[in-house]
Amino acid sequence: MAGNHDEPGALVDAFGGTGLMGGAHEAYYVAELPGVTLVALDSSVPGEGGGRLGPAQLDRLDTVLARRPDIPAFVCLHHPPLPVGIPFLDGMRLADGDALAQVLLRHTNVARVLAGHVHRPVTAAYAHSTLAIAPSTHLQSGLALREGVPNYLPEPTSFLLHLLAGASWITHTVPVSHAAAPIGGY
Ligand SMILES: [Fe+2]
Repeated sequence: MAGNHDEPGALVDAFGGTGLMGGAHEAYYVAELPGVTLVALDSSVPGEGGGRLGPAQLDRLDTVLARRPDIPAFVCLHHPPLPVGIPFLDGMRLADGDALAQVLLRHTNVARVLAGHVHRPVTAAYAHSTLAIAPSTHLQSGLALREGVPNYLPEPTSFLLHLLAGASWITHTVPVSHAAAPIGGY
């Protein structure tokens, strides 16, 4: 997914039309796999740290989720759609998170809403689904619950593994390094 440090055009130039982007030629794309639907949204806004989806993308998401109502869907975007309690990052979250929630609430097949941007693992209930924010595979951010810039911390690089166990989707946080990130990245 394209985030605030990315150029969606470069993403499309490199991977557009391939299976890695569901054959699409834009940074919004869908992969309808046999057991799961993956939806990648483009929440990037040129020149801004915060994100926005916009009505056109939300309308298309509504259509995609209705197309295979019995198949679990993962809705993926860079910016968290709700505040996570870290003021610095909440100030640059998804601007139309409430509008996204209104779309998701019309569907019962959203197994997870997946985001990044925060650089540390966060889980929350969201729109009758579960929002899982992934840690970073590079630098982890501090848990800065008061005003100020969260510095980077020497915590392990990690990723999330979403596993279908029986009838339930389970999310594991998987550290893949020792504490190796630099202290103070800003
Ligand atoms: Fe970001």
